[in-house]
Amino acid sequence: MQIGIIGSGKVGRALGAWFAKTGFPPLFASRNQTHAMEAAQMAGYGAKIATTTTLVKECEVILLALPFDEIGNALEPAREHLAGKTLVDATNPISPDHRALVIGHMHSGAEEIASKFPTAKVVKAFNAVFAEVYAGQKAQIDGRAITIFFAGDNSHAKATVREMITKLGFDAVDAGPLANSRYLEPLSLLNIHLGRVLGFGTEMGFSLLRTPKSLSK
Ligand SMILES: NC(=O)c1ccc[n+]([C@@H]2O[C@H](COP(=O)([O-])OP(=O)(O)OC[C@H]3O[C@@H](n4cnc5c(N)ncnc54)[C@H](OP(=O)(O)O)[C@@H]3O)[C@@H](O)[C@H]2O)c1
Repeated sequence: MQIGIIGSGKVGRALGAWFAKTGFPPLFASRNQTHAMEAAQMAGYGAKIATTTTLVKECEVILLALPFDEIGNALEPAREHLAGKTLVDATNPISPDHRALVIGHMHSGAEEIASKFPTAKVVKAFNAVFAEVYAGQKAQIDGRAITIFFAGDNSHAKATVREMITKLGFDAVDAGPLANSRYLEPLSLLNIHLGRVLGFGTEMGFSLLRTPKSLSK
């Protein structure tokens, strides 16, 4: 599985380095290719850079790790190559001060991406865990795995994303159809508020407690 990451900032670099370490060296793209190059060097294991269009052409799975309002600019030139690709949406449509969603709660950023790029298979995931957790490459806190919820409408794409989450050691929970991104995007704001405003810090995450019967969900 070739993973491509659009956005070489905090999330892109951290997840890219972790994927590389688990055997999936990604292709990185960014607005500024120097940043993509830094991300690839930091990741190692043969990670490389590409233009966004080449990345979309060459990768089956594309992680969106850029500001939500830049997604159109980034993907439009690559539109014709998006057919059948799994777009993993780690973004959050939040205001510049990180205090409010600019889309919600009757709609979501992920659904907006899917309606703009309907030939791609969009899966929401990785959006409600701090980049610092990804950078630390620890999916557990005090012996308990952090839950990463994912939502999407294509079962094949969701199975791929579940595998990506599980490979890193997180607890992957299928949160249903893509429309349920309406619940997952607000979760990111709760995460930010707890971590950065209420003093829990960034080494935290949500964990879904459930009975053994529903552990595989
Ligand atoms: N930070 C977190 O803890 C966290 C956690 C989960 C989800 N998220 C979400 O993940 C996304 C990225 O967050 P971040 O903290 O990693 O942001 P960041 O550090 O600011 O990085 C954003 C990256 O996106 C790139 N970019 C911007 N416009 C682009 C375009 N048109 N084409 C290609 N690349 C473009 C930037 O490129 P240049 O480097 O070239 O400027 C930069 O590398 C956001 O949507 C955020 O809400 C963040």
